[in-house]
Amino acid sequence: MRKLPMVLAVRQVHPRFFGEITGADLIGEPDENLRNFVEQAMAEHAVCVVRHSPISDEQHLRFARLFGPLELPPGYAERKAASVRPRIAPEMFFAGNIDDDNQIIPPKPPSQDIGAGAQRFHADSSFNPQPSKWSMLRGVECPPSEVGGDTLFADMRAAFDDLPPEMQQRLEGLTGIHDFWKGREYAGLTVSDSMRTRFRMPPMEHPLVRTMANGRKSLFVGGHCTGVKGMSEEEGHELVEWLYRHTTSDQYVHRHQWVEGDIVIWENRCALHAATPLNTSEYRRDMRRATVNESGREMDAYHAAGITGASLTD
Ligand SMILES: [Fe+2]
Repeated sequence: MRKLPMVLAVRQVHPRFFGEITGADLIGEPDENLRNFVEQAMAEHAVCVVRHSPISDEQHLRFARLFGPLELPPGYAERKAASVRPRIAPEMFFAGNIDDDNQIIPPKPPSQDIGAGAQRFHADSSFNPQPSKWSMLRGVECPPSEVGGDTLFADMRAAFDDLPPEMQQRLEGLTGIHDFWKGREYAGLTVSDSMRTRFRMPPMEHPLVRTMANGRKSLFVGGHCTGVKGMSEEEGHELVEWLYRHTTSDQYVHRHQWVEGDIVIWENRCALHAATPLNTSEYRRDMRRATVNESGREMDAYHAAGITGASLTD
């Protein structure tokens, strides 16, 4: 019997953003129609999910590459050159607690866990010279949703739209400072001098208000945005924290409960995301992320910026 082509559709699941795409075949060779549909859905909804699509790393990467060059994770070259093939494709960022022997990695205390900052809303790689375009996170092994491990998303466009016009005018033209280590300190991590020396992460500047390709304006804040250029540290921090609280208030937030085979795509330049707690000593979690840049070569952002030494994810 001839297989009927699937019809692509998107349904908004939150009053302000977040679309669920149906009819997307990520297993077969992707075509221009799928690419255009997803680009348009993302421009409209900022975050989209394709559910129940258990694909391989290779299929995941092939899909991601339709939309731009990959941002490669730190350590990519070493992982690719390793004599033993890693459990996860070296192009993928890993967000989980499973090691190469398929065992649970024991959790670190929060004050020493660099990943713990992911529970503050943030835009991936906003501390890089070029903020990531999209992240695509795939649930390979997910805990039952009743025990935690959901992801929260916030729409920074809607948060901007709802600000009073005088506040919008004040913010346009201001520049945010995205400082990885300071952001981690605010998230409760004890940052040592050796961490700062080993992982050299200079603060980066990005506009506090972005204009997206379709003309919509968006705030650009989040956990890595710790200050404002030209303001005192205290004044800048107070302003970005106010914007953070506004953007992450309930009316702009959607909670995604993961099911294995989900792929959630988010536009880092106008949406924030945050992990929710999970007892990672007890529950297994295998989440894999492909990250896409707007332009440039496929390389990790630190080498692209001429920064040497190891680097961190998130
Ligand atoms: Fe993240």
